[in-house]
Amino acid sequence: MPTSIDVFAKAREHERLEQLRAARELDALPYFRILEGPTLPVVEMEGKRRIMLGSNNYLGLTGDERVKQGALDAMYRYGTGLTGSRFLNGTIDLHLELERELADWLDAEAALVFTTGHQANLGALGTILGPSDTVVADSGDHASILDGCLLSRAKLRPFRHGRMDRLEHTLQKAAGDGGGILVVVDGVFSMEGDVAPLPEIVELCRRFGARLMVDEAHALGVLGARGAGTSELFGLEDEVDLRMATFSKSLASCGGVIAGPADVIEFLRIQSRPFMFTASGVPAAVGAALAAVKICRSVEGRELFARVLDNARYLHSGLSDLGFRVVKPTTLTDGTEVVTPVVPVVVGDDWKAALLWRALFHAGVYVNVALHPAVPPGGALLRTSVMATHDRATLDRALELFSTAKRTFEAEHGPLPGKS
Ligand SMILES: Cc1ncc(COP(=O)(O)O)c(C=O)c1O
Repeated sequence: MPTSIDVFAKAREHERLEQLRAARELDALPYFRILEGPTLPVVEMEGKRRIMLGSNNYLGLTGDERVKQGALDAMYRYGTGLTGSRFLNGTIDLHLELERELADWLDAEAALVFTTGHQANLGALGTILGPSDTVVADSGDHASILDGCLLSRAKLRPFRHGRMDRLEHTLQKAAGDGGGILVVVDGVFSMEGDVAPLPEIVELCRRFGARLMVDEAHALGVLGARGAGTSELFGLEDEVDLRMATFSKSLASCGGVIAGPADVIEFLRIQSRPFMFTASGVPAAVGAALAAVKICRSVEGRELFARVLDNARYLHSGLSDLGFRVVKPTTLTDGTEVVTPVVPVVVGDDWKAALLWRALFHAGVYVNVALHPAVPPGGALLRTSVMATHDRATLDRALELFSTAKRTFEAEHGPLPGKS
């Protein structure tokens, strides 16, 4: 008998359809806006120059001549695409050079380059874990981590974001599951920009015999003296078993990497399906990432890391002074504050976030909007982020526009959450 259930029904009765339609009608849809030029501190977007405070181009390297030349040289030498997987016909010497550079930078035995960061998480978690294992993940972890956990069919035990008492409790339960245990956290959480308390996490992993993987997507090229991420910042590079990073943020390109023990990396190279069964990144992406890594590892890298964090501090205090509720930087147990390039403004209500976004967009600033499930329900954010290449005049102008947008918004829709 034929089924009466249409698999397309989900698409047609999607709970967000109505919201999407209303947002489009009001020109308040923050997603899929069209860039008409490169991602720089000021961008051309839908017919207007707008200050870009919504990119992950933390070091501003997408506009760097050396990085562009790296992409061009690779494209001219190897062509526009490799038309095959790394496993078969898609590995070029630039991949191997990039893997050596990354392993050295991250002080790891070996590294494996994937086509995207999403695939790196999928490829590591989905291969290292199996159905008899348990994976313990922070509830704020990136979606690609969750996808990797689901792919592995390991028992998934999430714990409440950043709560070490919950991690301990979850590990106690995981210890009773009878398999291996992997804890996986973002080093810097992508939406709120807060930092995982790695010293406590490492200590708990040791106590329960668990392995630890850290996603350094938003920390590579930003935190630590060498820019090697949160593991370096905390002096824990030897204690973190696997590190993931992406090329789509500070490295101004596209791709991902897993770094760790040589035997585990070799296992991924021959067993990881998201590595083996997808086309290799285009040569231009590999060439650009390699050029960006070289800049990060030079003296200039250190200046760029300092500059992006300085800009983050400036934007943070400017927005707080205007009365916005800005998520505070993480304070470590010794009282040090860890600033990251992500400076989120708390709005709370989804509609208010979209309308404030619209006021800013019309004024000439682009920011990202994070709604549930990217953030907890009722925790809508304007996720602003800075680049090392934003100058003070541009940030000052952005703050003026934020002030105007706030006044316009509050006159029509009532007060935004105030400074906490
Ligand atoms: C924390 C985190 N991990 C992984 C990824 C995936 O990286 P990619 O964009 O290279 O697929 C992202 C990117 O959005 C991220 O923010």
